[in-house]
Amino acid sequence: MSGISDILVIGSGAAGLTAALNLADRFTVTVLAKGGFDEGSTAWAQGGIAAVLEEGDTFESHIEDTMTAGAGLNDRAVVEFVVENAPAAIENLAALGVAFTAPDGSEGSNGKWHLTREGGHSHRRIVHVDDATGWAVQQALIKAALAHPNIRMVPDMVVVDLATSRHEERYSGAGHVWGCYAVNKASGAVELFTANATVLATGGAGRTYLFSTAPKGATGDGIAMAWRAGARVSNMEFMQFHPTCLYNLEVKNFLITEAVRGEGGRLINPSTGKRFMPFYDPREELAPRDIVARANDAEIKRFGLDYVHLDISHREPEFVKGHFPNIYEKLLGLGIDMTAQPIPVVPAQHYTCGGVIVDMDGRTDLPGLYAAGEVTQSGLHGANRLASNSLLECFVYGRAVAQHIGAHWDDLPPPPAIRPWDESRVTDSDEEVVIKQNWTEIRRFMWNYVGIVRTTKRLQRAQNRIRLLSEEVADYYGHFRVTPDLIELRNLLQAAELIVRCALHRKESRGLHYTLDYPELAPEAVDTVLTPN
Ligand code: FAD
Ligand code: SIN
Repeated sequence: MSGISDILVIGSGAAGLTAALNLADRFTVTVLAKGGFDEGSTAWAQGGIAAVLEEGDTFESHIEDTMTAGAGLNDRAVVEFVVENAPAAIENLAALGVAFTAPDGSEGSNGKWHLTREGGHSHRRIVHVDDATGWAVQQALIKAALAHPNIRMVPDMVVVDLATSRHEERYSGAGHVWGCYAVNKASGAVELFTANATVLATGGAGRTYLFSTAPKGATGDGIAMAWRAGARVSNMEFMQFHPTCLYNLEVKNFLITEAVRGEGGRLINPSTGKRFMPFYDPREELAPRDIVARANDAEIKRFGLDYVHLDISHREPEFVKGHFPNIYEKLLGLGIDMTAQPIPVVPAQHYTCGGVIVDMDGRTDLPGLYAAGEVTQSGLHGANRLASNSLLECFVYGRAVAQHIGAHWDDLPPPPAIRPWDESRVTDSDEEVVIKQNWTEIRRFMWNYVGIVRTTKRLQRAQNRIRLLSEEVADYYGHFRVTPDLIELRNLLQAAELIVRCALHRKESRGLHYTLDYPELAPEAVDTVLTPN
């Protein structure tokens, strides 16, 4: 299965497949996914994609909303670049067959789409496919990629690490990335994939937290492997918590889209029966996500609640069912009729704002390694991502990466001979239970010590736990054959370590990072940048 191609793309979500499709007319491309092609966050996106598409809205307004949500930490040039490329990105998706919803609820065409609203946006500007936008986008991208003769799609291939100069048969020390080693889930063997350029599009690290809306595979693999290969990582303290994840003892990570609030949904304290957002922010339920999540958390803690209520039952039942058909059906299956009853919700981890540092061409610090999407810190999101800007970032950066590779192909040499994976000194694990135990422990202390409201003492506690677990996992990794579970555990722990290190570094409260020890905003907005030894 291993092989050589011009380009290796790790990840089959919005970022990876956008890059692949924009490269494939000229180059051979291999795309790896660690499970099925639609098992990343992309397929789970509900609300939609932000773009200025209507008269009365302006790029300036979308830029300002993004900067306001990001608490001044965004890179303005990057925000302008992404916002101004948004309408073209939407047109490209429509051309690929994504049937965005029309104003009357049918499938739209020719740019006549229904625009919904989400927190932090001062205008209706979110295009969507009902309440399952990501699913429609992911299926269209997969269909196009599978149909392209130059794209080889490889599922069930779990990347262990990037192949760098250290793995060259004749060591060059150039710091170049030449591809990766990956475990084939079917055979258990570690295979080598090499290419002139590698694109990292592995998504976020949401599963470092006990409660997360993200899929199981969001274990920060790309961030951890780029860090181990020598790339800088930034702003990992800014983990976004979504205010409205369904509270249910069996279904633990089902998102209730922000568009429910955008269409009039209200947050109610079940103990008092009253709305509470007006006491927290003049924008009420449509304040940026960090503010609403903190307000939910504060109400839950102050009143000793298990959840707060999200209520849209005051709107016409046909309107609710028409706008949120999938959520309506899902909740009905759980015994909640959202047209007549409030929905119990809690905040849960949702998005990783920090990541591998990239420039506006998607280049990382390492020659031959590009990155796009949630794995990156591009400067777009600052200290808090504006709703529905992340899929957008995947499309704009996926394309930017492809354009840069195309324009600089002559500077990307073919890979030298790379050593095969060495398994001569490891055996099969005899204690799988260690992996499960450590995994649960990390997610629990990250939730309790590194959550929505932080203190230095709690962060230090988390750091101590991470130190101990890192020794244990390194020992385990050194002695036993790699398995998908071990790879994820190692990366999850590395991602947790980077989150805590960044959080301890920031001596202020800004955007998503709120600490009782430094509640004020520092006068200057500065990124947290970590450099590997
Ligand atoms: P993903 O789509 O997560 O894809 C990651 C890919 O990398 C997968 O193919 C995976 O298999 C692969 N991968 C990971 N690790 C490895 C490895 N070790 N080896 C091989 N392959 C690997 N954003 C919006 O803009 N609008 C929304 O409405 C919206 N709603 C959301 C709803 C939910 C429930 C969630 C969780 C997120 C939502 N987001 C939304 C965020 C958005 O979906 C993600 O930021 C975006 O989809 C990330 O895309 P990506 O291509 O970077 O990564
Ligand atoms: C949602 O639909 O609420 C999620 C939107 C996003 O994460 O951008």
